[in-house]
Amino acid sequence: MGTESNTELSISGRHAFWLSHATLEKRLGFLLPGYRADGFSIATTDLASNASFVNYVRHHRLTDLGTGATLDLVEKSIRKVGFITSLESRFYRERDVLTNSVHFKHPACLGVIETPWESLIFTDYVQGRAPRMAAIAVNVARGIAEIEALSSRHVQRTSRWQAHKFWTMDFFRPWYLLRARFNFQRFLPSVEKLAEQDERFSGLANRLRALSPTLRRVAAAARDSQRCFCHMDYLRKNLFLSPQGLQLIDWSEVKVGRIGFDGGAYLSAIFRRNDLPGFIKVRDEFLQAYAEALDERFDRQSAMLNLNYIFLLNSLWHCLRPETIAEHQKKEKMASLWEKYDYLLALALPAES
Ligand SMILES: Nc1ncnc2c1ncn2[C@@H]1O[C@H](COP(=O)(O)OP(=O)(O)O)[C@@H](O)[C@H]1O
Ligand SMILES: [Mg+2]
Repeated sequence: MGTESNTELSISGRHAFWLSHATLEKRLGFLLPGYRADGFSIATTDLASNASFVNYVRHHRLTDLGTGATLDLVEKSIRKVGFITSLESRFYRERDVLTNSVHFKHPACLGVIETPWESLIFTDYVQGRAPRMAAIAVNVARGIAEIEALSSRHVQRTSRWQAHKFWTMDFFRPWYLLRARFNFQRFLPSVEKLAEQDERFSGLANRLRALSPTLRRVAAAARDSQRCFCHMDYLRKNLFLSPQGLQLIDWSEVKVGRIGFDGGAYLSAIFRRNDLPGFIKVRDEFLQAYAEALDERFDRQSAMLNLNYIFLLNSLWHCLRPETIAEHQKKEKMASLWEKYDYLLALALPAES
């Protein structure tokens, strides 16, 4: 809840399916017992969003006209394709599983309203500042280990209906895996072109091509390992340092993934933004804290393999994109990019036999 929130407005945490969009006032009346349209004023501002299926993200400040007390909340509208409920709202129906988290704070969910065309997710508005991503490695490691420990029990303990739901949310379903960002092979022709201009990169495309069977083997092993909810989107914009602790928002990339995947997602975000020596320092800090925090129920070796799998998928995609190459050329940082390719190729080697 916002820092000066009005305690008379309790949160229902309700979920509903409506045939119409209805008005914001009607939605608030449903979510907040005690809310009356004539008793409150609402000031709305748009928050910057760039995810493809998001219609809008809005901050609403409700002011009680009687007492002047305020409540800040966020409304996120996600477009549906073919009436299919978004992953994020499917996750929000299960998110009580994270209620007792210590390392990440998760803003309270006021409720979710589904219509045939959109999912509307209402959460508390978080006030805080964007962290320096490299500086929070230890907190993130503990936070991820905690999400894994709490949610792995939950995704096991299922009714048939829930088992089906989790199956549809599984990372390894083709409708997620076939996405462009998991297929670095499409960038190989531009790597070949690069080799024509700069001989340091000759042979690189072939070495990268040879990674595919290794990655397929690692994927098959990951698929059979222990499941949990994975956030998958550790960007600076999705984290807030606040007096309550490190807050994590934006579950639009959530999947039922595998232990270790989120570590790979975080480290790939660091890899992308830093040169190799800077990355290695953060990686070591992260991995040490993660190994200490990892729940005993989980197999360490497969957690590390899974972590490297997602790290490689994300990093190969990012580092091979023509935009990334062009940016490094412009800044005359091709030596640093070459170092990164070399690191990624060496990382993939131990899995080969
Ligand atoms: N609960 C919240 N508290 C404060 N700001 C938020 C909250 N939810 C979203 N925002 C702001 O809106 C932006 C977009 O919301 P987000 O859920 O990350 O959507 P997207 O999936 O489009 O990235 C965030 O980067 C953040 O700045
Ligand atoms: Mg976001």
